[in-house]
Formats: sequence, C-alpha cells, structure tokens
Amino acid sequence: MRSKLLVVLALTALAVFAIACAAPTPVPTAAPPTAAPAPTLVPATKPTDAPKPTVAAPTAAPAPTVAPTAVPAPLKGELSLLCTPQPEWCEGMKKEFETKYPGVTVNYVRLSSGESLTRLRNEKANPQFDIWWGGPIDSFIAAKKEGLLEPYKSAAHANIIDPKLMLDTDATPQWTGIYVGSLGFATNTKQTALKAPESLEDLIKPEYKGQIVIAHPASSGTSYTFVCTILQIKGEKDGWEYLKKFAQNVLTWTKSGQAPVNNVGKGEGVVGVVFSHDIVAGIEQGLPMKLTFPSEGTGYEIGGMGIVKGAKNLALAKAWYEWALEAKTQELGKKYNAYQGLTIKGAQPPKPELLQVKLINYNFDYCGDNKKTFVDKFSNELAAASLAK
Ligand code: F6P
Repeated sequence: MRSKLLVVLALTALAVFAIACAAPTPVPTAAPPTAAPAPTLVPATKPTDAPKPTVAAPTAAPAPTVAPTAVPAPLKGELSLLCTPQPEWCEGMKKEFETKYPGVTVNYVRLSSGESLTRLRNEKANPQFDIWWGGPIDSFIAAKKEGLLEPYKSAAHANIIDPKLMLDTDATPQWTGIYVGSLGFATNTKQTALKAPESLEDLIKPEYKGQIVIAHPASSGTSYTFVCTILQIKGEKDGWEYLKKFAQNVLTWTKSGQAPVNNVGKGEGVVGVVFSHDIVAGIEQGLPMKLTFPSEGTGYEIGGMGIVKGAKNLALAKAWYEWALEAKTQELGKKYNAYQGLTIKGAQPPKPELLQVKLINYNFDYCGDNKKTFVDKFSNELAAASLAK
C-alpha cells in the first residue's frame, strides 16, 4: 500500500514537472507591452510632418482669388480736361492727379464758361475733351439741354452736402457740383475818390461811370451770374433797364471772370464785379483791394463738373470725376489759392465766411435754361461780345 502511494506521488510529480517544462507561452504575453510604445512614437513624429500640407494649403490658396480683384490694372493714357477755374488751380489739379495716377498725363485747356460751352457745341460731332471741370452750373444746365454731357452715376453723389442744389436731378446725373462761390465787389483802396459800393444801386450811380470792370457774359460765367442775379432780383423788365445803365458805367469788359481783380489791383478801374473768393485771393497776394457785398443780397455759383458726351477716354474721365468728389481732393483748392466753398460732406471749406452773407435764392434752372437768350440779348442790345478783352 505504502509503495502504491509512493508510485502515485512520483507519477504526479513527474506530470507536474512535464507541464511546467512544456509552458514557455507566458513570454509572448510580455511582448505586446514592449511593442506598444512604438505606435505612440510614430504619431509623435507624424504630426510634425502632417501639418505641412494643411498649413501650406491655406496660405497658398487665397493668392489666386485675392489678386485679380484687389489690384486693378493701373490707369494709363491721356486725359483731355476742359478747365474753367483759375489757371493756377487747373495746373495744380493736373499735377495732383498725375501724382495719384503716374501712368496718366492730363492735357488741359483753360477756358471761361461761355467759351467752354461754345467749344463743346462746335466739337459735338468729334469731342476733343473728356471732362469739363469747373465754372458755374448755369452753363452745365445749358450744355445738358444741348446733349453735350454724358450721364454718369457715382457712389460719391451720396456724399454731396445738398443734392437738391448741387446735383443734376436726373436718376443718372449729367453734372455735379464741386464748389460754391458768392459774387462780391472789389474796390481799389489806393484811390480815395470813390467809396466801395455797398449795394447794386451804387453801381449805376453817375459817379461810378467809367470806373467798373467786369467780364462779358458771353464769355464768362461770373458775369453771367451777375446778369441773372439782376434779372431775378428786379424781374426781367426792370432788370434789363438796370443792366442798360450798368453797362454804361463799365470801363472794361474782360473775357475771364477773374481778370478784373488784376485790373482793379493795378488801378485800371476802381470797382470790379467778381466772385468773392477771387477777390480774397487777390488781397492775399497783396493787391490793394477791399471786398464788399451788395445789401440787396448777392448771387452765387455752384461750380460744376460733367463728363463730355462721346469722351474718347471715358475710364480716365470717370477716374477724375470720382477723385474730384473726394473730400481730400476738394480741400486741395486752398493750396492753389482757390477759396471756394466745398460740396462734399466732411470737407473743410477754406473761407466759410464768404458764404455767410445775404444770398439770393438763385434759380439755376431758370438761368441755365435761358442762358443763350439772355446772353444774346445782352450782346445785341447792351454791349457786343467782341468788346471783351
Ligand atoms: O476764378 C475761379 C472762378 O471764379 C470760379 O469760381 C468760377 O467758376 C470761374 O472762375 C468762372 O470763370 P469765368 O467767369 O471766366 O467763366
């Protein structure tokens, strides 16, 4: 019995030994933990590679979409400008525009309002100018009536201070206002024989006979503003009577509206009828002159701008038009001794006091629509246009 038990124990021990020797399998279970960190290292290196494509793509992608819209082709060519304000301002604006657009040359001709209108009329079939800048809008209203202007709508029209007054009322306007000026009297202060006129009535008094200098209304918008002011204040019948007497007191008829400032400054005549901003410019340049305004109220201009119908360089004309309606551009005037009031919101007028005077309720449509009739009557009955120098 005891030997049987020893045999069983020995066999059991042998079996356990055999099992123990046949079980090397625990080794593979240890392998995954050592292999596991390897995949975590891969992501650690891969992310540094991965961002490359994702970062590179967004920076490269916008280039083709942004470039065509943000950088328009630079403007190039020659703009033909009909310029009616004082020559110094025309020259200054030419240079300013060429500085802004180095690829553009501005060729301008300075002509008074009536002369400008005649040129546009004569060149209607083959326009030589692209844009007309400056001069009272009476002439622009007349030009529109004759089909000489190109309709143009600008977003900048929304910035005009008083669109009812300063912008053509058509849905697509043909002219816009770029400045404002009041009529005044310039009196030479070196002479003592005559006092500076204080009223329209003073101008037709006998003592002013042969003492007055004014431009002719056939050539000058300044002078036409005076004529139409009289016809509105007095009515046409009395107005023409007044103008007859006035014409007899005139010493010199000039072509340009501004010219009497120099005549009076030099003592060639005692009183000039001129826009007040031109008189102030003369005084600032040292001419011995005093500025007065008529007590009855005075006429005023809205200086206009319009693209010429059939303009050969339309893109350049539009660029000038848009530029002229920027507040910063309007403020450039004073740099060139141009002291007109301004028409764009936010632009600082150089001499606001020149419009803080008694102004009449000037009817631009009436004066524009009748310009040819009134000028012809003036030339035929009061003073020939050929007298203007
Ligand atoms: O000299 C400038 C100016 O008085 C402008 O204000 C005006 O629009 C223009 O001259 C008128 O010129 P003209 O009387 O010669 O037509």
